[in-house]
Amino acid sequence: MAGLIVSSIEAGYHRGPAVVHDLSLTVQPGEILAVVGRNGAGKTTLLRALSGLLPCRKGTVRLDGRDLTGLPAHRVARRGMAHVPAGRRVIPGMSTLDNLKLGGYQHTGSAALASAVDEVLTMLPALAKWGARRAGTLSGGEQQLLAIGRALMSRPVALLLDEPLTGLSPAYQLDVLGELAKIAKGGTAILLVEQNVRKSLRIAGRGMVLDEGRVVTTGTPEELLTQQRLEDGYLGVGA
Ligand SMILES: Nc1ncnc2c1ncn2[C@@H]1O[C@H](COP(=O)(O)OP(=O)(O)O)[C@@H](O)[C@H]1O
Ligand SMILES: [Mg+2]
Repeated sequence: MAGLIVSSIEAGYHRGPAVVHDLSLTVQPGEILAVVGRNGAGKTTLLRALSGLLPCRKGTVRLDGRDLTGLPAHRVARRGMAHVPAGRRVIPGMSTLDNLKLGGYQHTGSAALASAVDEVLTMLPALAKWGARRAGTLSGGEQQLLAIGRALMSRPVALLLDEPLTGLSPAYQLDVLGELAKIAKGGTAILLVEQNVRKSLRIAGRGMVLDEGRVVTTGTPEELLTQQRLEDGYLGVGA
């Protein structure tokens, strides 16, 4: 089956206790799944397990029908899983364009790299405008779009984003969400981890609430937003 299919995974750090327990989810091509939950709920750990940065102790991770469970991160990435970690992490001293090219390391040959750059610039035209600027001179919102563009360079099947709205102005938050909606329309499966519940659910087809490493509830944005306990109990932050 196409898209991202995660079945009953368990993950944790080193020999410590499990942080993510018996977690299953699916994200179809073109779909945005928002995973929300308060600080410490296990959102970042989930993304690390999906991208192979942490081993899954149980369960399976499949992408477009292939079993990726247990593969190291670089091989998971090659199979189409792109991970945009929290904090953006662009290289400040390098130009916007060179940062973008870093995301295309797997394209062999300059023609393949150039065509991937062209595709990403068509999708995110603002990046072309900043091409020669050092990434460190871009605003937080601009850096986030660059980090997303860099992830798209591999033409991923699934895009995993860790709190991409954190630290951005409201205007840039809307920009980033708008671009993510467009990227999904192009057929990418998007897993959007956010503490900003209302904003992320605005573009998501479905949402999932995580608490203490477990799925507490899933539903449409409308269903989730009407659950009072979402805000009171499981987030503990202004939703
Ligand atoms: N590198 C690490 N080593 C050990 N425990 C960690 C590490 N990173 C996170 N944890 C623990 O895993 C739990 C979930 O953290 P995390 O996945 O970062 O949550 P979230 O992203 O939802 O805020 C927390 O209890 C945290 O202390
Ligand atoms: Mg986190």
